[in-house]
Amino acid sequence: SIDVPNVQALAASIANPADVPPRYVRTEAKADPVVSDGDSELPVIDFSRLLHHRFSKEEYAKLHHACADWGFFQLINHGVPDQVMEKIKADIVEFFKLPLEEKKAFAQLPNSLEGYGQAFVMSDDQKLDWADMLSLITRPLHSRNIDLWPAQPLTFRDSLSCYSMELKSVAGTLLEVMAKNLGVAPEEFSSIFQDQTQAVRFNYYPPCPRADEVLGLSPHTDGSGLTLLLQVNDVEGLHIRKRGNWFPVKPLPGALIANIGDIIEILSNGVYKSVEHQAIINVKEERLSIATFHGPREYSAVVGPLAEIVKGCNPKYVSMSYGEFMKAYLSTKLEGRRLMESLKL
Ligand code: SIN
Ligand code: FE2
Repeated sequence: SIDVPNVQALAASIANPADVPPRYVRTEAKADPVVSDGDSELPVIDFSRLLHHRFSKEEYAKLHHACADWGFFQLINHGVPDQVMEKIKADIVEFFKLPLEEKKAFAQLPNSLEGYGQAFVMSDDQKLDWADMLSLITRPLHSRNIDLWPAQPLTFRDSLSCYSMELKSVAGTLLEVMAKNLGVAPEEFSSIFQDQTQAVRFNYYPPCPRADEVLGLSPHTDGSGLTLLLQVNDVEGLHIRKRGNWFPVKPLPGALIANIGDIIEILSNGVYKSVEHQAIINVKEERLSIATFHGPREYSAVVGPLAEIVKGCNPKYVSMSYGEFMKAYLSTKLEGRRLMESLKL
């Protein structure tokens, strides 16, 4: 990948709109309308009801429709303790406030996306996203590169370990329910996702005087199985694709935003949707979010439509190993559903 400026430092150096470098200014960004019509609301799944016999049948059905129709939902009553969420939020806010030189102690190493920096920059002429990120592998435990985990603030590593453990358990339960909903033996899903890989990406979106013409994160689908997103401050910016329009997400207090990634779309033979989304920028305020990606345990795991779902019909996607999939995902710029469409049979 290609070296690009630190966006937080760039944003701080900008005095007027004309100073925003052309590489960040898009002409196509606002081509699709943003609509938030009252008739369609992002589904809200009550996690505690999934666990409760009396309510689970109804909530299972709701979850199934959320995954099939929207590919996105808000997750409430997920049981992640408030203090665990508040701790990681406070620590990442503090990390991004550190002087650039201190943050750079945790910079990405050559040819790796792990650490502090930018991602998905493949050519000198592509438009750039108005954001910095800190990406860390959190699971399996032996995959952790602890040297890249910020040592400042002092509690960061502990906060992230706690958050990682809580989210692993929430994701595990959701994946189990999805397997049941899809008519797949839970063992089949758990043989893929047990001791799942988990990576956490902290997104930092500085304000921009030309907010309407830049993007924080280009339209993309997630290369994960299941993503859980935590909005850090009160600034909104997530848009999801719905019937050709962009639909703005308004996170409920304390909720996690869940979305189906490419891996589950493929395994489910397209029954569940990996939906395109993007992040927009605010003129005056910074925005932070924490995306936690859950994927198969091993790079050798086969990612292809599951036989139990395909049954007599035709598989709609090519099968490949998780490793091959990730290689393809990480070697192109973020570009909507382009990669997924190329994997269709
Ligand atoms: C993401 O797609 O990973 C981040 C979206 C957001 O910041 O809301
Ligand atoms: Fe994403």
